[in-house]
Amino acid sequence: MWNPAASEKAARNPLGRRLGSPRAQVIPLGAISHELFAVSGLLWIFYTSTVIENLVFITGGSSGIGAAMARVVPYPDARVINISRRAQKGTDHYQADLSDPAAWHGVADLFAREMKDFAGERVVFVHSAGTLQPIGFAGEVPMDDYARQVLLDSASPQVLGDAFLRAARKIQAECHVVMISSGAAFTVFEGWSAYCAGKAAMDQWVRTAGAEQARRGGRCRLLAVAPGIVETAMQEEIRAASSDGFPSVEMFVGFRDKGQSRDPEEAAREIWSLLERDLENGAVVDLYVPAD
Ligand SMILES: NC(=O)c1ccc[n+]([C@@H]2O[C@H](COP(=O)([O-])OP(=O)(O)OC[C@H]3O[C@@H](n4cnc5c(N)ncnc54)[C@H](OP(=O)(O)O)[C@@H]3O)[C@@H](O)[C@H]2O)c1
Repeated sequence: MWNPAASEKAARNPLGRRLGSPRAQVIPLGAISHELFAVSGLLWIFYTSTVIENLVFITGGSSGIGAAMARVVPYPDARVINISRRAQKGTDHYQADLSDPAAWHGVADLFAREMKDFAGERVVFVHSAGTLQPIGFAGEVPMDDYARQVLLDSASPQVLGDAFLRAARKIQAECHVVMISSGAAFTVFEGWSAYCAGKAAMDQWVRTAGAEQARRGGRCRLLAVAPGIVETAMQEEIRAASSDGFPSVEMFVGFRDKGQSRDPEEAAREIWSLLERDLENGAVVDLYVPAD
């Protein structure tokens, strides 16, 4: 929706192009789609970026916690870009398979492109994409699947976090990185070796890069959040695992049966609220509440 105050800000953007009313920005075909207008038989693709005060990138915004984070973004005028394989209604989509290192450059380019000339208030990168597959013991699951999981869960948070911070150096806006971690970072779950290792790596990357950002003045703030047990497709996958490949399966079935898994939007709101707290840069927060 057009916002006159914001439009005034957009008018100060020397690169803003008038393509109609309000100001709109043409964005490349094939990369992101937002609104389609057919004009005189020609197909024009416009993104109505009248004013973007808050720019939010969410990997894994197509499902579960990431999709819930997108739905309950606490900034009314936010532009949200979902980075994942599947699109999700209500957000722009940048398609990427993040278990493929070849895709990471494209995401880095997206960050650089979207942040170049960004004059709004805040940029946020939420990294929620993750996978438990293949569930099974190390040495007993297919090597290529295992390698893809390592790339997605261990490597992509670090490489994409680095790319985001690099792009954010060019702007003045408040800047946040939120990594969706897990209690698996500090608990041994047999059958999840690459997942546990990936979340531990994520946490330590956040601690270290957070300390670096603090030394650089702290404009960019980093946070890793273990969201607790949240009722998503991933929980369904866990409950469907065999006890041979995942001996703790009954415990997770119990979380569901006892009503102990949380609603994704409730978890998402709590995660967003952490950005307002005065946490140490590089904090690792566990939202899991043990049952009585
Ligand atoms: N649910 C829980 O209880 C729980 C607990 C602790 C931590 N977490 C963490 O929360 C995060 C979100 O999980 P969720 O529970 O919301 O699961 P989910 O509903 O299964 O969502 C997983 C998301 O990751 C994306 N993703 C998976 N593989 C991808 C790939 N190769 N490339 C790009 N994106 C990929 C999926 O998007 P596409 O399929 O569209 O690519 C999807 O949006 C994960 O990092 C998970 O480890 C969840």
